[in-house]
Amino acid sequence: MGQYERLLVAPVGGCIGAEIAGVDLRDELPDEVVAEIRRAWLDHLVVFFRDQPLTPEQFSAFARRIGTPGRYPFVPGLPDHPEIIEVKKLPRETVNFGGIWHTDTAYLPRPPMASMLLALTVPPAGGDTEFANMYAAYEALSDGMKGFLGGLRAVNSSALADVSKTREDRIADATAAGHQASESYESVHPVVRTHPETGRRSLYVNVAHTARFEGMTEAESRPILQHLFAHQSRSEFTCRFRWAAGSLALWDNRCALHNPVNDYHGHLRLMHRITFEGDEPR
Ligand code: SIN
Repeated sequence: MGQYERLLVAPVGGCIGAEIAGVDLRDELPDEVVAEIRRAWLDHLVVFFRDQPLTPEQFSAFARRIGTPGRYPFVPGLPDHPEIIEVKKLPRETVNFGGIWHTDTAYLPRPPMASMLLALTVPPAGGDTEFANMYAAYEALSDGMKGFLGGLRAVNSSALADVSKTREDRIADATAAGHQASESYESVHPVVRTHPETGRRSLYVNVAHTARFEGMTEAESRPILQHLFAHQSRSEFTCRFRWAAGSLALWDNRCALHNPVNDYHGHLRLMHRITFEGDEPR
């Protein structure tokens, strides 16, 4: 963990997550400040900022300092900012978008490096997001399991039932607005990937997208995958973030999972999300 000269960086848990203070993301940030934000993000996997009421222009401008904003395949972005999608749950809805442990769009050949979420409207209580550290999950496996997983690749699909239902409401909105229905996606990635910036190994499977190991059937893969899904979300690998309007989170999809908690029926939760282009997991 580094020392920070330009920011206040306070860990929020023992294993993952830090809150950053002392910066206004609406400002034109010096390169040295952006470099420290990036360093804190690589150190802590997810960083949180408070009281950042960014317009879409300001949100996009900050994103461009961190990486290259990408596109989400299933839901169109804002008309003037296609790189920003709305993540929302309406008071009448019961399913929340992405409401399952996952890393974003692992079914794409080049999944996003990172994602950023800005809270616009939050419920009076609930609607937190949990994050889990996949370096720690990997490192806590036995040597035998590490050896077994080392050479394996897994098939990741956008079409698994549990995750598909979490985007149905938003796809229905998009279809009603004339957006063409999306196809499904599938990609094969290493089960243990090496982070291109930190060089550390992390466990790269998730219950939302990982269907089976390459060269094995679903029935053969399932017991081991189920063990890994339970292992990777153990509470000692996690932190939990309580949102307020203006809170912003930036997480690393290459080494962290997240899970938005669906405990606020009857209330609106509205966020803006940007995902960043990534590279092929290796
Ligand atoms: C997502 O998976 O991007 C949504 C996270 C959240 O709503 O907290």
